[in-house]
Amino acid sequence: MPRHLVSIENTGEEFLCEESVPVLLAMESAMRHGIPVGCRNGGCGICKVEVLSGEFAARVMSRAHVSLEEQVAGHVLSCRIRPRSALRLRALRTTTRKEV
Ligand code: FES
Repeated sequence: MPRHLVSIENTGEEFLCEESVPVLLAMESAMRHGIPVGCRNGGCGICKVEVLSGEFAARVMSRAHVSLEEQVAGHVLSCRIRPRSALRLRALRTTTRKEV
């Protein structure tokens, strides 16, 4: 399975991610921390990133967390995307603190 380099602009971290693996899970496996981790299943929205460059495959994302406009602008949940090329991302939330 091809692997692609993923870089997180906020922290300068890089890691490799297989095409079959969600970006957020690959980041955790590589012991990187630039994207906040929550439910890992598209339910909380905390792992939202802006894709600055690169191709990816996305699973369905709740409109509660990603509006159509956001998705068109490349704002996606990193636990719901798998890379199809090298990716450059910017984490949109930089704290793991739960919002109330
Ligand atoms: S970790 Fe909760 S939506 Fe991605």
